[in-house]
Amino acid sequence: MFKKLSLSAVTALTLSAGAALAAGGESHVHDVDFSFEGPFGKFDQNQLQRGLQVYTEVCSACHGLRYVPLRTLGDEGGPALPEDQVRAYAEQNFSVYDAELEDDRPAAPTDHFPANTAAGAPDLSMMAKARAGFHGPYGSGINQLIKGMGGPEYIVSILTGYTGEEKEEAGTTFYENTAFPGGWIAMGPPLLGEDVEYADGHSNELHHESEDVAAFLMWAAEPKLMARKNAGLTGVIFLTVLSVLLYLTNKRIWAPIKGKKTS
Ligand code: HEC
Repeated sequence: MFKKLSLSAVTALTLSAGAALAAGGESHVHDVDFSFEGPFGKFDQNQLQRGLQVYTEVCSACHGLRYVPLRTLGDEGGPALPEDQVRAYAEQNFSVYDAELEDDRPAAPTDHFPANTAAGAPDLSMMAKARAGFHGPYGSGINQLIKGMGGPEYIVSILTGYTGEEKEEAGTTFYENTAFPGGWIAMGPPLLGEDVEYADGHSNELHHESEDVAAFLMWAAEPKLMARKNAGLTGVIFLTVLSVLLYLTNKRIWAPIKGKKTS
């Protein structure tokens, strides 16, 4: 009896959640071929540097990255800025409150990116992993296997998903967005295209800027992605070699019993 009750409660919940989504309009996330997807995926160092620039010049006005240490900008597999550039970047862009000095001082590589929640903007340190762009078919995870979890794609879709419609409710302006669940987001379009000037001469069209900053945020959320994939690959090779050796050993051990010659 109890089991039956809780089961139907779960069904009711799922149904109402589905209905809520449908009422707000289906959120649309489109697939992007990022360099870091798939078992051999790698971050594109230039793209991460461009994304860092977009974050610094645009997003950091409202969003913090409080869990990301500034020194990791110099890490292999990340944006990999030279040490002196990491120091210069920290000093020039951010200041932190120092309790000992009782004053603000320029940020150093040992500090984290500052926290910032201006206008209720959420911290972006984990955003690329906190959101999933692709779901289902229910429980099978097939979409995730083929396209990845889609956190970065979700961010790209948000940044490029504005329809231009706005409305005001209880003193807050909401902007219509085809990717945001519910269809209306309290963040005005942060990028319009040509917002930043890339030093490497890369295109700064809206969708390029969005992909760059999404890739950077993926790195921020999972800086060890490349190391993890390498370790996984090493593991698979190791297990394959081990299986072959065990197979041969097994054959050898059983050879006398099966009546075959050993040498
Ligand atoms: C003027 C301030 C402002 C700027 C600049 C800004 N945002 Fe936002 N952002 C917000 C606010 C406010 C929210 C919360 C919106 C809501 O929950 O409706 C938000 C929410 C988000 C979300 C979360 C959506 C979700 O699913 O909850 C993402 C992702 C995001 N912003 C990315 C960015 C990126 C990337 C940039 C830079 C290109 C940027 N934002 C620039 C104010 C800003």
